[in-house]
Amino acid sequence: MTGSYLVTGATGRLAEAVVRLLAERGDRLLLTGRNATRLAELRKTYGGSGRVEVLEADVTEPSGAQHAAAEAARRSDGGLTGMVHLVGSFAAGPLMLTDAAEYRQVLEANFLSAVTATQAVLPHLGAGGRLVYFTSPLIHEPLAALSAYTASKAALTAWMRSVAHEVKRRGVHANAVSLTIADTPEMRRERPGIDLDHTVRPELVARAVGFLTGPESDGVYGGVIPVLGRFSFSSALSAGPPPGVFEPEVE
Ligand SMILES: NC(=O)c1ccc[n+]([C@@H]2O[C@H](COP(=O)([O-])OP(=O)(O)OC[C@H]3O[C@@H](n4cnc5c(N)ncnc54)[C@H](OP(=O)(O)O)[C@@H]3O)[C@@H](O)[C@H]2O)c1
Repeated sequence: MTGSYLVTGATGRLAEAVVRLLAERGDRLLLTGRNATRLAELRKTYGGSGRVEVLEADVTEPSGAQHAAAEAARRSDGGLTGMVHLVGSFAAGPLMLTDAAEYRQVLEANFLSAVTATQAVLPHLGAGGRLVYFTSPLIHEPLAALSAYTASKAALTAWMRSVAHEVKRRGVHANAVSLTIADTPEMRRERPGIDLDHTVRPELVARAVGFLTGPESDGVYGGVIPVLGRFSFSSALSAGPPPGVFEPEVE
């Protein structure tokens, strides 16, 4: 079963794996973002089939979101199926060094963008529609100096779960994928000392998106799918298994 999706934040790090999976599945996609250069690259790579198109738009603005949703619906085969909302941003810093403007910026990118984009897309969706968002396990186990980011993802997740109850009445599925840090070239460049064991390949995140936009997830409403790789919150009290104990390989 193929569909037609609006993919927001398509210019970001995780997007290409998601776009590749959905495009190979035969979905029709409208990719949006503010970075025209990156959108042109994506069109060059994936536009050959005629099913993947790009549109420069800022979906954090109601007018940009409505334009993007209307274009996605107009270019769809028999109606828009859903939205994969990849817009987001990260911020780290102690409370006393994070001013209100930075809190607003992160809330805007991670939470309010989802509100604006969803309000624009929802009128175009029918039964079987799909909404997919991206959150973080930090909302359950917050760490120091990540208060703005954690609060914004907690807001997004609670909001998504409430909206899921609201929209399931019309057969629309709203769900989220939760991940720690994706193993992308940018992440390797920015954080060379990172423990790669605690990261996750974008292809695995994309597979979860494939599940949440496919018939296998029929009836899954308000779910948060953890795609955490080998990540676990650790402390001195949680040691691994003793040496020699079999540990199955995981992807
Ligand atoms: N990558 C990770 O390790 C990771 C981990 C946990 C959760 N996530 C979440 O997964 C989603 C996708 O991750 P990603 O790494 O692909 O994100 P990303 O590269 O940081 O950003 C995705 C896109 O969001 C758009 N964006 C950012 N701030 C915006 C703003 N204020 N207004 C409008 N657009 C804005 C940007 O597009 P334009 O500038 O072109 O508009 C950007 O390309 C995000 O929600 C992210 O928080 C990612």
